[in-house]
Amino acid sequence: MLRPMIELNAEATGTFYINALAVFPEYRHAGFGRRLIALAVQGAREAGMAAVSLTTFEDDRRLVSYYRKIGFAAVASRPLQPHARLQAKGNVILMKMPIDDGAAPSGSGPG
Ligand SMILES: CC(C)(COP(=O)(O)OP(=O)(O)OC[C@H]1O[C@@H](n2cnc3c(N)ncnc32)[C@H](O)[C@@H]1OP(=O)(O)O)[C@@H](O)C(=O)NCCC(=O)NCCS
Repeated sequence: MLRPMIELNAEATGTFYINALAVFPEYRHAGFGRRLIALAVQGAREAGMAAVSLTTFEDDRRLVSYYRKIGFAAVASRPLQPHARLQAKGNVILMKMPIDDGAAPSGSGPG
């Protein structure tokens, strides 16, 4: 079940990998998600890393489009292996956002 994630994690070597991202439901749509990602960008920059990365399910179109708007792009994918404990189907994808030295991370500005 974990093989696709393990393989994609290997492709994320050398990047600032976001293992989990979640905001309590009552606080969503207020920009906290973007701010957490901006903190990861800051951490990556301070660590001298060239990219921030994460994995997500390709079928979650809204979430994938949210990450794209922030600056992530899908760079690799693996088919999920069906498992009784896994509801998601389709592909798991690795998304990366390059760290643009000098530019402010998307979503880190005021507002
Ligand atoms: C994904 C997640 C972390 C996003 O957190 P969030 O704090 O709601 O994120 P943001 O506020 O930055 O943005 C979320 C949406 O709200 C919108 N938004 C941001 N600020 C807003 C505001 N002030 N008013 C209204 N909408 C706003 C964003 O444009 C975005 O909309 P979109 O999805 O249509 O593009 C949150 O939905 C979550 O915890 N989901 C469950 C766990 C999960 O799926 N994690 C990802 C695993 S890979």
